[in-house]
Formats: sequence, structure tokens, C-alpha cells
Amino acid sequence: MANDCFARSPRCHAPDTALDPAPGPARPPVPVADPAAWLAADLAGDPGWVHRLDGHEVHELDRAVEVVLSRGLGPGGFGRDDFPLTHLADRIAGWARDLDQGRGVVLVKGLDPARYDDDALAALYWGLAVHLGEPVPQNADGDLIGRVRDTGRDYGAKNVRGYTTRAEMRAHCDAADVVGLLCRHPAMRGGESRIASGIAIYNHLAAERPDLIAPLLEGFHFDLRGEGVTDDPDETTFHRVPVFSWFEGRLSCRYNGKTIEDGMTKRGMALTGLALEAVREVGRLALEPPFRFDMTFEKGDIQLLCNHSILHARGGFEDWPEARAPARPVAALAEPARRTGRWRRRSPIG
Ligand SMILES: [Fe+2]
Repeated sequence: MANDCFARSPRCHAPDTALDPAPGPARPPVPVADPAAWLAADLAGDPGWVHRLDGHEVHELDRAVEVVLSRGLGPGGFGRDDFPLTHLADRIAGWARDLDQGRGVVLVKGLDPARYDDDALAALYWGLAVHLGEPVPQNADGDLIGRVRDTGRDYGAKNVRGYTTRAEMRAHCDAADVVGLLCRHPAMRGGESRIASGIAIYNHLAAERPDLIAPLLEGFHFDLRGEGVTDDPDETTFHRVPVFSWFEGRLSCRYNGKTIEDGMTKRGMALTGLALEAVREVGRLALEPPFRFDMTFEKGDIQLLCNHSILHARGGFEDWPEARAPARPVAALAEPARRTGRWRRRSPIG
């Protein structure tokens, strides 16, 4: 269930003060040096975050898929040892390092999804995920691979998850260490991914609007969208989740403007004044130059993002007409959440 994520976070119930590595008199915020503090021009100018699979690596994946399918195993039913990779395992470990300690962004290209049926592609994706970390669900249904598609739901309605709609989505982080998205089919129109570095946004605020930092450090009660442990549709996080926090000397970001505003309203503490301005300013900056970087997916692209440093948003899209037909179970995009055992640090889950 969704709150598996919360339960596993060793710091999710810690008092807020434990999140500050330097308790004592308040100090003015200062910009931090971090490889994840990139601007859009930095990503555009250095393609080191784009990884193309070569023929040998695709062959390695194909063999591993054959192994698990021949054993009748599918997503959720096998782990790293069941999905034999050699050379590619080292490369995936490099992606994990880039996500945690580098730019926080990885794009994997070179897969042709047309070569796989739905079961094989899902097994391949799951196999990559278990080599990258420990997959965790992101919704109350316990789905480990979510289908991103237009189900006709209204994003503005209470407790509707954005990935089930065609709506433009505000900048946010997901509730796992890493979120991945495999593009099975691009949308008919729109749906581009918009990403920005939360660390770079912090640096900007520290320099230009340091007054907004304090409410962001104090944090907010995030809306749990009816997916909390109590099944109460109005449940919010018990504790305040800071938008910016420190862990082992590193800055982390945990942001979702919609669930922050909805959560505080449900809590009877609707945001006003400086706190509201601070929340909206983070979301606004994430979608504007020089922070926002747009990615348009091609078939087979896999985007991996570190949720502790990178915010993502999505343009509204129009799905292919057949994507909503029941006979086509795998729709436009799939998005599993992943938690890696090596990720000890960083922000509590929002
Ligand atoms: Fe998301």
C-alpha cells in the first residue's frame, strides 16, 4: 500500500528539529554547492546524463527477460538475482550514483518497445528497477507499475492522482527516492516532461528571497489524497514535512504544491501570506527559465529522477483514442517508483 513508503522512511516521524544539521541560532540561508544544482542550460550543454544502450546491452536485457518469463515470473514476482545482468548491472549502478550523488537525472535511450509484448516490456522494466533499487508502491492500490494515461478523471477533483488524468501537472516530487518513467507510446499531443532542480531553486531563493526559506524549512502537512493508513479522505501527514531539509550535510527537497496547499486546507490551516507565497514561488520557478528543462519522450525512453533533488511536472496531453479502450491494457506511459537500499539520506516522504 502507499504508506509502505512512509513506514519505511526512518526519519518520517522524527521531530522537525532533527532535520536541521546545525541546530542553534538561525543563520541566513546560503547557496549550496551540489552537482544537482543545475540550470536548464547546464543539462542542455552536457549530455552526460543521457545513456544509450548498445546492442550488447539490449541483448543482455532480452536474455534476462527470457529467463524470468520462462519461469513464469513477472513484475512484483522477481528480484535482482532472478534477472541476470553482468555488464549492464555495473552501468545501472552508475546510473544510481548519478541519481544520488550527481545531477539527479538519467535518461536511458536505445530500447525499441515494439520488440516486446506488454508482459516482456513490463518484465524488462521491472528487471531494471530491481537492479536499481527496491521498488515500492506509490498508491493505495499497491501498484508497483502505474500506467500514465488519460482515464477521463478531473485533476481538480478531490483525491484524484494526476497521472490518471490528461491535465497539466504542477511541479512536484514523488514519494520514493527515485521515480522512473518508461515511454511505451508518446501521447498523441503534448505530455512533455518538465524538470527542474530543487537545489538550484533553493540557491536562487537563498540569494534573492531568503525570507521565503524559513516557511519552507518549517514545512507543511501534505495531503495524503485519501491514501493514508486511516482511509480518511482528509488525512494529512501527521508531521510537517519540510520542503527543504538537511541530512548528513546535504540539502534535500520535498515539494508538491498541490498536496501542500490541499493538506494545509484539510488541516484547517489554509496557507496565507509568506508561507503561501513561498510554496507558490517554488512551483513557479520550477516551470520558468532558467530552471525549467523540457524533455520530449521518444518510444522506449526511460527517465529516472531523484525525488530528493529534482522536481518534475508535465504538460497537458491528448492520448490516442485507442488508449482509453479496455482492450488496450498498457497505455501511453508507465511509471514505477523505486526505493534503493543505499539511499539512507535525505528528505522525509511527503
Ligand atoms: Fe510524479
